[in-house]
Amino acid sequence: MTFKENLLEFLTLEDADKLLDSLKLEDYHAVLLNPKKINKEYFISLFPHVTSHPYVENAFIYDKNEYPLGKSIYHELGYFYLQEPSAMMVSSLLNISKDDLVLDLCAAPGGKSIGASFKLDGTGLIISNDLSRPRCSLIVENAERLGLENLLIVNNDFEKIYQDYLEKFDVIILDAPCSGSGMFRKDDKMIADWSINKVYKFAEIQKSLINIAYQMLKPGGTLSYSTCSYSIEEDEEVIEYLLSNTDAEILPLPYIKKAYINKNKPIGIRMMPSNFSGEGQYICQIKKPGNKKPTAYENSNKYKKELPSSLEDKDVQKYGNTYFYLNNAIKVKGLNIVRYGVKIGEDNKNIFRFDLHYARVGNRKDLPSIELNLDEVKEYLYGNVIRKSNPYKGYIYLIYQNNPIDIAKTDGEQIKNYYPKGLRKRFN
Ligand SMILES: C[S@@+](CC[C@H](N)C(=O)[O-])C[C@H]1O[C@@H](n2cnc3c(N)ncnc32)[C@H](O)[C@@H]1O
Repeated sequence: MTFKENLLEFLTLEDADKLLDSLKLEDYHAVLLNPKKINKEYFISLFPHVTSHPYVENAFIYDKNEYPLGKSIYHELGYFYLQEPSAMMVSSLLNISKDDLVLDLCAAPGGKSIGASFKLDGTGLIISNDLSRPRCSLIVENAERLGLENLLIVNNDFEKIYQDYLEKFDVIILDAPCSGSGMFRKDDKMIADWSINKVYKFAEIQKSLINIAYQMLKPGGTLSYSTCSYSIEEDEEVIEYLLSNTDAEILPLPYIKKAYINKNKPIGIRMMPSNFSGEGQYICQIKKPGNKKPTAYENSNKYKKELPSSLEDKDVQKYGNTYFYLNNAIKVKGLNIVRYGVKIGEDNKNIFRFDLHYARVGNRKDLPSIELNLDEVKEYLYGNVIRKSNPYKGYIYLIYQNNPIDIAKTDGEQIKNYYPKGLRKRFN
């Protein structure tokens, strides 16, 4: 079967040709604002030619040639996350409530977890998992840069441990590994690599993952299923498999004018570059019948005396000489923890060094702060000492536009540079 024949399983000849033509055009880029750090008005004043995303709050579509946002200093400061315009609709369409316990089963590099974390505003808990350890590090980098507080980043094969998490989660995001045809515009080689056997292979993996995901969902909970594949074998047919084997029900999505709905199997929606300024993305939401019981979070902090008082009500853990905290914790069983919430810092022979992650969250009750101007921020991000007289001695927050940049040490005359060496770079 050719790719086009596979498309004709759900598209008319005219629509399939339209989609294939659209794959030759330039792809689109989007940005999701970090609500803790920047508002829409200020973002537009910095980048006036962006267009509001029609379906995602706090998101904009932009021209990468005009605004190379990935290289912008505001990206470095955690003001936003760059994400494909269709992909960001997955989290934006999710109904998440304060204090929800969320599992993002296939999370790296973290796009859907980040969207969910922005919505939860530090409440609840998101277990952000990926099977690939190197890819988990990408989630960690994003969590540090953006200053996210509610991600427990883990590296597990849940097929082996799901029995310990039955009916545990309010929300599960299954952004499944897939054949990736929805990303063809980004990578020409992928078109040549497409085969129906690959689609069948992923469909098997997806059925297995959706099956365990459903078992881990609380009664009354919501499961979001998405892929960046156009193939019905990986999309509607995976949902049909779940519906025929469980009591799962489809949760209707809000009306989205530019979404494509399969007329023969009206299950979920498809964003396609022939209809919308984004890549291919299939999105479907499932409900488990029943009434949701709230999660009983359990925080313990036996390190209270060793740490700033602002951490008293958090769940603090110590691994080796390094401290971490979560706002809300549950008992974890069998999880390979990559990042336990926020890395506070390391205690090296009684010299405590705060971490960038803790600094970026900016819990500023515990330390004084010094406001830098943009030139000073650039100097700091490049790794230079900042000469600036100030009334403090010891640790201070460095602030720009009311946002924390880092925690560094001052002697009252100059500020030492604690920005991690691997991140240092020059901004013009
Ligand atoms: C489509 S990507 C996820 C993208 C991510 N949700 C985002 O928005 O940034 C699929 C991910 O699934 C991971 N993966 C593959 N098989 C898995 C499994 N059995 N369990 C967990 N993760 C898996 C891959 O390593 C890959 O990172």
